[in-house]
Amino acid sequence: MSGTKTLTIIKPGAVSHEHIGPILAKINTAGFHIAALKFFRLTRSQAQSFYSIHQEKSFFESLIDFMTSGPVVVAILEKEDAVAEYRKLIGATDPTKAEEGTIRKMFAESIERNAVHGSDSDENAEQECDFFFARSERYSMFEARLQKS
Ligand code: RTP
Ligand code: MG
Repeated sequence: MSGTKTLTIIKPGAVSHEHIGPILAKINTAGFHIAALKFFRLTRSQAQSFYSIHQEKSFFESLIDFMTSGPVVVAILEKEDAVAEYRKLIGATDPTKAEEGTIRKMFAESIERNAVHGSDSDENAEQECDFFFARSERYSMFEARLQKS
């Protein structure tokens, strides 16, 4: 069965343009539960570690400069099939290729300043959630349901 959680980052460009509220509203409207939430500025070392898969890419330094240029919002989102559902909601990496109504189509400024991150696999989602949040900082809707039943 596919996983029920994904990790998102509202990137510095979208934060500085006051898009936190509208993006969180779209996330809730699409049926995601917010299971954890933080607002802070990534250190260079956090950004380098988070995007280490891209360290050989030509855009890596620029991406790290951007991701550390101001505060971000980091959140764990829950829904059935969360990773795929959220990638659908955010749209393509390049906003010129993103579908109408997607978060990146609405709020991205460029392929780099593309408003939000979304995990790309269940395994990465687990790792990314553990990277940013202790267990005590989460409230899982799925775990709460299991405890009630
Ligand atoms: P993300 O990891 O942030 O959710 O984005 P993604 O999976 O859609 O795209 P990925 O290939 O993982 O790229 C990570 C982030 O690097 C920046 N990027 N810049 N200048 C460029 O050609 C370029 N390509 C990618 C974007 O901020 C992208 O989200
Ligand atoms: Mg990615």
